Amino acid sequence: MFNQLKKWLGNESAQDEKSPHLELDNVPSHIAIIMDGNGRWAKQRGLPRVAGHHSGMKNVKKITIAADSIGVKVLTMYAFSTENWKRPKEEVEFLMKLPQEFFPLEIEELIERNVRIRMTGWKESLPDYTLNAIEDAIERTKNNTGLILNFALNYGGRKELLAGVQDVLKDVQEGKLRPEELTEETFSSYMLTSGLPDPDLLIRTSGELRLSNFLLWQLAYTELWFTEAYWPEFSEEHFYRAVAEYQRRARRYGGL
Ligand code: IPE
Ligand code: IPE
Ligand code: MG
Repeated sequence: MFNQLKKWLGNESAQDEKSPHLELDNVPSHIAIIMDGNGRWAKQRGLPRVAGHHSGMKNVKKITIAADSIGVKVLTMYAFSTENWKRPKEEVEFLMKLPQEFFPLEIEELIERNVRIRMTGWKESLPDYTLNAIEDAIERTKNNTGLILNFALNYGGRKELLAGVQDVLKDVQEGKLRPEELTEETFSSYMLTSGLPDPDLLIRTSGELRLSNFLLWQLAYTELWFTEAYWPEFSEEHFYRAVAEYQRRARRYGGL
């Protein structure tokens, strides 16, 4: 993989779609990924949907390392939405068991790479075994200073916005905040992603062209990149291609 990366970074590579040239001084600080298409990936292979989730889980570390290798600071992975509870009980249960498989398997290498685990979402209503697995990983990596691997788990953008507004109202009522003090920056600190920069780049796999209630406040000026690839087959090459395309974009923020 590192040879491949070297090729992409180095001068030896032709600048084509397969081996994009990356500029290390313009790497997105925060990349958010909607890891979609696990079910369809499995179905395509005649496997149960949960096999797709398992395979998708296996892909997380690979992409984390790819992101770390080019200097990404925060990688937010949409793992379970507040709407995903609507799925069949067996599927939800399988998804909820993934953290207790993922972390014991990958945590040592993540620690070696100085990765810090974070979670964005509601801890209430997660089963104990899910919460314990993620909290243990957060605790074990809390002093790490490298890439932040942020799992959006039981996360929903509208719920986050409503909760943020409620917290603002409460603070106003208690005299901790004056209404005129509420700036975009202050409001950001009421979001679950408080302290993190907004995503520079959003990647969604599996060909769906929507946000599905992901980071509605934070994505206001994020660059969007979509691929037909299902999440389990999303490779480093896809990832670097997305970053290379990001680097060709002009971010104007409404200006000229
Ligand atoms: C994404 O894959 C994983 C989760 C939403 C948990 P899906 O399970 O949505 O897969 P598709 O979109 O049905 O193929
Ligand atoms: C979004 O995917 C949520 C995650 C990837 C965790 P979904 O598969 O739930 O989104 P919709 O239902 O297609 O919008
Ligand atoms: Mg889906």
